[in-house]
Amino acid sequence: MEEISPGLENVYIKYTNLTFIDGNKGIMRYRGYDVNELAEKSSFEEVSYLMLFGNIPSLDELNDFKNKISENLALPQYIHDIIKNAPENADALGIMQTALSALSETYVNYQWNEKNDLKLIPKILGNTLSIVSNIYRIKSKLPIKDPVFDKNYATTFLKACFGMVGEERARAMDSALILYMDHEIPASTTAAIVTASSLSDMYSSLTSAIAALRGPLHGGAAESAYKQFEEIGNPDNVESWFNKNILQDKKRLVGFGHRVYRTYDPRLKSFKKYADKLVETENQKKMLEIAKKLEELGVKAFGSKGIYTNTDFYSGLVFNEIGFPLYMFTTLFGLSRISGILSHIIEYVETQERLIRPRAIYKGPGERKYTQIH
Ligand code: CMC
Repeated sequence: MEEISPGLENVYIKYTNLTFIDGNKGIMRYRGYDVNELAEKSSFEEVSYLMLFGNIPSLDELNDFKNKISENLALPQYIHDIIKNAPENADALGIMQTALSALSETYVNYQWNEKNDLKLIPKILGNTLSIVSNIYRIKSKLPIKDPVFDKNYATTFLKACFGMVGEERARAMDSALILYMDHEIPASTTAAIVTASSLSDMYSSLTSAIAALRGPLHGGAAESAYKQFEEIGNPDNVESWFNKNILQDKKRLVGFGHRVYRTYDPRLKSFKKYADKLVETENQKKMLEIAKKLEELGVKAFGSKGIYTNTDFYSGLVFNEIGFPLYMFTTLFGLSRISGILSHIIEYVETQERLIRPRAIYKGPGERKYTQIH
């Protein structure tokens, strides 16, 4: 008797050498390295190299990788036009999805092979930095501008957005890019693997991933969690809001719960550290206080069911303290995730390629006789 697995829960679709997660102990490693240690000591480009090529690069390899990314920051004019011509209220991640999809137009009959794949990686990383910084610029009424590489990926990105950036914020951005880089195969990465399994091109696979990332149960959670803090409005309101909305009306506490973790999400530690370190304005202090009070109530109510705080509870606070508005949060998640998704689709196609084609169990009517209506 066939059975379905709703949400593909506990279904394994690939072997991986990339990310290890122990959801019971709250451990997460990239190719064997603790994610929080990498977030503290390493850089986005170094960890991207690790994920994509298997090892921490030598200094020469790292510099070569950075140079190649810096050579790919300029976008073709038609991508500038897509960003520029997006309606004023367009969703930031929606623009990113459209721009990535448009880049796929130039890959006619893409052939997956090591040479093509490796050549494309710095191009995709350079292009996406430029796409996301220009989405921010256009929404901030600034002119479109190709970024100029400065020091590292995170600094280049923040300078492209804001014109200048302090050391602490650049470090926090670098860490956030690392912490969000990969998470084994959540909905977005799975969507990319499904697309790549048909041997479609890398940009199309990324477009599928970004589309799946958009939902509030996945990438959109940081934005929804922050909106929740805004709705509460004041630390004094936390308890009554929690009792009414979560306990009484049984709404879900956003930034809590995870399909894999039965304890705290390990990345939370780093995000909490930066949320405390960068907090500056009165409003940021208020939001942070609300978050901490809400977390305490959430853990008290749901901890015994294995539902704890996930990364998205605090990451929005950090993105806001770095200087980004709410509407950019999911797009920043998307930017961080590119190297992780690429690593998974390359791993899948190069080592285990098989078209993903599951089955559905038919429950509809039996054979019916068709009667023509005209
Ligand atoms: N608040 C209150 N109850 C919850 C929550 C929550 N955030 N999450 C799960 N539960 C309860 C749920 O009501 C259910 O209870 P019962 O068994 O009594 O009916 C039980 O826990 C199991 O829930 P589920 O929906 O079967 O669990 P899941 O593994 O499908 O849920 C989840 C995973 C992330 C969709 C869910 O925890 C959720 O909706 N969280 C809120 C949104 C959120 O924070 N999303 C970010 C996820 S992490 C980032 C990412 O991967 O992108």
